[in-house]
Amino acid sequence: MKVIKVKDYAELSKVASDIISDLVKEKEDAVLGLATGSTPIGLYKNLIEKYNNKEISFSKVTTFNLDEYCNLPREHEQSYYSFMHQNLFNHIDVKPENINLPNAIGDDLEALCEEYNEKLSKTQIDLQVLGIGGNGHIGFNEPGTPFDQETFVVELAEKTRQDNARFFSSIDEVPTHAITMGIKNIMAAKQILLLASGAAKQDAVKKLIEGEITEKFPASVLKKHDNVIVIIDEEAAGALEK
Ligand code: GLP
Repeated sequence: MKVIKVKDYAELSKVASDIISDLVKEKEDAVLGLATGSTPIGLYKNLIEKYNNKEISFSKVTTFNLDEYCNLPREHEQSYYSFMHQNLFNHIDVKPENINLPNAIGDDLEALCEEYNEKLSKTQIDLQVLGIGGNGHIGFNEPGTPFDQETFVVELAEKTRQDNARFFSSIDEVPTHAITMGIKNIMAAKQILLLASGAAKQDAVKKLIEGEITEKFPASVLKKHDNVIVIIDEEAAGALEK
């Protein structure tokens, strides 16, 4: 795991967007794995700026998102479909048919997982962007998820629902389930870029960098991948030994 320490959120977003734009310049049909949450918003803003400046184009890029809340209508402001369109897709030239998010609306959620997993198994993600949950989750792989897990329906941990309640009018509105790529799908990416910013991530970052590899802390699996870059800002690095 290569750890890049930066000063603040602005620098984290810049370094991350440079890594992605270098990849897209080199491989115009790159397959990007994308994440939601507040952390990658600055990265997406910078990518939009690079697109507007004609530095990069996404016309041949394919995207796969990590996860989606179950049975939250796509048009709901907090669906990850809406999030991605508002924060990135509506502002760049990615083709709608090249955008992939789990479809998590329906009665047969297992079948929807299989459908997404099938799509993922037919491609390889060149670079997967990840945030990290306060409890070490990646995507929505909560503590205890087996490392060989593929796309599945997850019951969200209470801590995750509390963390994400800030985006909804009350915690009761936070969905209880989501469809997420499994850890195995995430680990299949050629390269992984994990971003962590702010003091609220100190403990998670400490466990990720200094802790053992354990299913109790999902992000620790990344130590088994040979091409991972972790970008952390000073606040997120606050609890590290050095
Ligand atoms: C959600 C997403 C994760 C994300 C996490 C952290 O739970 N499913 O992919 O990493 O939130 O979010 P934030 O970046 O807002 O701290």
